[in-house]
Amino acid sequence: MKRFVLVLLLVLCLCVIWCYGEDDMDVTPMEQAEKEALYSAIQGFVGNWWNGSDLYPDPCGWTPIEGVSCDIYGGLWYVTALSIGPIHDNSLGCAKNVEFRPQLFELKHLKSLSFFNCFTSSHQHPISILENGWEKLSGTLESLEFRSNPGLIGQVPTSYGGLMKLQSLVLIANGLTGELPRNIANLNNLKRLVISGNWFTGHIPDMFGQITELLILDLSRNLLSGSLPLTLGNLTSLLKLDLSNNQLEGELPKEIGYLKNLTLLDLRGNNFSGGLTKSLEEMYSLEEMVLANNPIGGDIVSFEWRKLQNLIILDLSSTDLVGEIPESIAELKRLRFLGLSDNKLTGNLTPKLATMPCVNAIYLNGNNLTGVLKFTELFYGKLGRRFGAWNNPNLCYPFVLMSTSHIPYGVKPLPGRCHAA
Ligand SMILES: *[C@@H]1O[C@H](CO)[C@@H](O)[C@H](O)[C@H]1NC(C)=O
Ligand SMILES: *[C@@H]1O[C@H](CO)[C@@H](O)[C@H](O)[C@H]1NC(C)=O
Ligand SMILES: *[C@@H]1O[C@H](CO)[C@@H](O)[C@H](O)[C@H]1NC(C)=O
Ligand SMILES: *[C@@H]1O[C@H](CO)[C@@H](O)[C@H](O)[C@H]1NC(C)=O
Ligand SMILES: *[C@@H]1O[C@H](CO)[C@@H](O)[C@H](O)[C@H]1NC(C)=O
Repeated sequence: MKRFVLVLLLVLCLCVIWCYGEDDMDVTPMEQAEKEALYSAIQGFVGNWWNGSDLYPDPCGWTPIEGVSCDIYGGLWYVTALSIGPIHDNSLGCAKNVEFRPQLFELKHLKSLSFFNCFTSSHQHPISILENGWEKLSGTLESLEFRSNPGLIGQVPTSYGGLMKLQSLVLIANGLTGELPRNIANLNNLKRLVISGNWFTGHIPDMFGQITELLILDLSRNLLSGSLPLTLGNLTSLLKLDLSNNQLEGELPKEIGYLKNLTLLDLRGNNFSGGLTKSLEEMYSLEEMVLANNPIGGDIVSFEWRKLQNLIILDLSSTDLVGEIPESIAELKRLRFLGLSDNKLTGNLTPKLATMPCVNAIYLNGNNLTGVLKFTELFYGKLGRRFGAWNNPNLCYPFVLMSTSHIPYGVKPLPGRCHAA
């Protein structure tokens, strides 16, 4: 009975505080251990001057910290998301001598962790990702991101292969090195894997073909070498595949064509060769095909372009292609960008290219196209310099028809060296 009265009194008391008082609001239910783990973890990143218990006595309640989100589990507040780095004016910026503290791993319900522009001092104070402790987050962490941290060096901890709840792993523009961590292939909930703009070397592991839930795979801007693993053809859910700006080589395997849902294929800036693989014709969903800056070679004529009816961007510049530009390219009704510059293309240009209803840029410069351009003034006027036909020494336009604002840039008028055939 006494106890009952006590509880009643307490409830009354809380009510009074809730309704009237703002003097002592330190009643938010949050485990002390969780609170201290949060303060200490943050202090490691932003510096010892930062005193969480002073500044933010109720971090999930009435003194929220920018970059910290909370949720209630079993009647208590827990931190679910922590994002460190200058995203907003009042975000948590990082100290020069930033450090990972093991308290980070004591956050029991952490789902999302991100670091932006935090580890920036690559010369004075580079830092590696803490190797141990991550396993404590294996039951909760769904999203992990390190972005724009040039001072973050070393390898990806092997323990990342145990973060079984992970759906998104994003490592963009850091100083990370070594081989791509193979055991990431264990993460069978992974939907987004972006490891771009680091210094990773070695091959793309065959095992990456096991991450079959993957929707986005971006390994661009590293130093990856070797050929494409055929197992990538197993990633049939994939929507975006970006392997651009590496040192990958060999043929484009026919297995790439198994990726029927792919909308973006970006392989620019590698050393791929062996011609345009026929199976690429079967990638019906493709909206952007960017193969520029590869010695792919072969001819452009025998590929059935009309099958790729969803193409919006087709960039085949600097790919050593030969042959005449086929009329079937003009049947790509959604095409906005056509890049064929700096190849070895020959022959006359079909005026049908102007009939593509969406086209906004056509670059054909740096080839060996011949004859007289037969587009309308309206077309030259609409595209301006986005119609690139310069550096085709044997190409002309019929200048009698033209007002000066509607001539193709950098092309000589008839009579020139072109054959008015
Ligand atoms: C924060 O400040 C309080 C008193 O204002 C002090 O007791 C505590 O030790 C400080 N914590 C840290 C981590 O500096
Ligand atoms: C993945 O692809 C490879 C090569 O194409 C194939 O041998 C293997 O059976 C595939 N694995 C699965 C699980 O589909
Ligand atoms: C491809 O996309 C379609 C339509 O969105 C979807 O029904 C199908 O399940 C996807 N295929 C794979 C393998 O994810
Ligand atoms: C590109 O690949 C070819 C073989 O196909 C090789 O001879 C050449 O050295 C490679 N170039 C670079 C820059 O790796
Ligand atoms: C370009 O084509 C013309 C005529 O077809 C040919 O005479 C010339 O040798 C070619 N130039 C180059 C650099 O291939």
